[in-house]
Amino acid sequence: MPYAMKPLACDPAAIDGMSERIIVSHYENNYGGAVKRLNAITQQLAELDWATAPVFVVNGLKREELVASNSMILHELFFESLGASAASADLLAQLEQDFGGMDAWSAQFAAMGRALGGGSGWVLLAWSQRDRKLINTWASDHTCNLAGATPILALDMYEHSYHMDFGAAAAKYVDAFMNNLNLAGASAKLAQLKGL
Ligand SMILES: [Fe+2]
Repeated sequence: MPYAMKPLACDPAAIDGMSERIIVSHYENNYGGAVKRLNAITQQLAELDWATAPVFVVNGLKREELVASNSMILHELFFESLGASAASADLLAQLEQDFGGMDAWSAQFAAMGRALGGGSGWVLLAWSQRDRKLINTWASDHTCNLAGATPILALDMYEHSYHMDFGAAAAKYVDAFMNNLNLAGASAKLAQLKGL
């Protein structure tokens, strides 16, 4: 199989306000499902006769490849985003420059999560290489990403992320996520992107 599941990046028993059951289910079923789907799509693409394949087959497989690829990648980042830790001085300075500080960034990011509650999608904190700045980006599905930007934190707003623990109370899940941010992990990702 060309794609393999990464180990669960966070300790599912140590995320305050979120159950081990929902994190493990999310990891095994939703993340694991995306990896399995991507492998099946990759296999079908490898066997495709590109000269004769109908356009709807080409479009369908390539679209589903993108959906499954980004679902895999963003879920890996989501689990890496959990596990409370402190931001580096550089991340704090960047948040100050681009948002007016950690609290202002956090208020914006959480509001975007709540706004997707009851629907689905992602909220991403991404580093735009073009503009050398951090930006909170909105995604209604796995395929929405700012071109050229690399996410360093990911909040999954699909209902499977919270329904088992919080029912329809998406805002409580957003609060729990914000209380467990792995800011040290985001700091390391930002430093690598900046070439520090
Ligand atoms: Fe998910």
